[in-house]
Amino acid sequence: MFKKITNLFTAIVFVAVTSLFGFSASAQTPIVIKLSHVVAENTPKGQASLKFKELAEKKLPGKVQVQVFPNSQLFGDAKEMEALLLNDVQIIAPSLSKFDRYTKKIQVFDLPFIFKDADAALRFENSKEGRALLKSMEDKGLIGLDYWGNGMRHFAANKDFRLPQDIKGLKFRIQASDVYEAIMKSVGANGQKMAFAEVYQALQTGVVDGQENSFSNMYSQKFHEVQKTILETNHGILDYMVVVNAKWWNGLPADIKKGLTEAMAEATVFNNQIAKQKNDEARAAIEAAGKAKIVKLTDAQLAEWKKAMQPVYKQFEPEIGADLIKAAQAASKPAQPKAEKPAVKK
Ligand code: LMR
Repeated sequence: MFKKITNLFTAIVFVAVTSLFGFSASAQTPIVIKLSHVVAENTPKGQASLKFKELAEKKLPGKVQVQVFPNSQLFGDAKEMEALLLNDVQIIAPSLSKFDRYTKKIQVFDLPFIFKDADAALRFENSKEGRALLKSMEDKGLIGLDYWGNGMRHFAANKDFRLPQDIKGLKFRIQASDVYEAIMKSVGANGQKMAFAEVYQALQTGVVDGQENSFSNMYSQKFHEVQKTILETNHGILDYMVVVNAKWWNGLPADIKKGLTEAMAEATVFNNQIAKQKNDEARAAIEAAGKAKIVKLTDAQLAEWKKAMQPVYKQFEPEIGADLIKAAQAASKPAQPKAEKPAVKK
């Protein structure tokens, strides 16, 4: 009798666990993995997501089915983290600016002018400190599998501008980042946190005057059609962390986890190979469209932006930590080895 009850209990627990985390032991039923993101398909993240699907399904034939949802179709910025924690989606890749609710350390990526270029950001992401950040949200239920690069960010507005004082009083759409709120304040502008999917309309209707993003995002969302000037400030990096629900990930069968880990490593290499090219193409396409004017800064103008934003470092140093800031800054120092993808360890 006792044995029967135990068996029944085991069966109930098994069904509950497998249905909760979306996989079953049956060889016939592939595990459905939803990968949701907010950008267009023709962007580094859009292409890397499709590459991950292709690789994962090739490595694990019949065992997994990866469904990719671009353009905030499944979940937008406001919902995707919660959806991941509820296991309504299994993989998301938010911008590094969108994690500050889960770890303050990750704010290091948003500090103004911390990386001289996208390669420096990649070097930091692959450093000991960068890899540690992937694991820094495990206690909140999130595991970072890797970083996907996009590119450098630039300011754009519906007026001609060159210097910080030219955007005084203007409203800029920013991502959900306290650092970016402080950055806008440092130049006398107002940062308005807003989901990515709402930005085009907000620019078009004048709800905000400007925004800041990579060329790839500006072009694929047509922001250049509703902006007058894009100032090539290179003030920050727009990169992503690919994150999974920790419980779901840790509960996957070993062979599935291995195949997905390999697929992610290869998709990451692919992403980082195409990111620069996608941004260069987008920049050229914006120029060819002849709507927003792309303006390069002189060294003296750039120095003004850096000076105005410098106080942001002091403000966030207590939350981020001076050592982590130093480690990130070191990635831009001369004589660094070329950025390389390390072998994936999981
Ligand atoms: C944004 O919200 O501006 C970007 O982070 C969107 C993205 O994922 O690139």
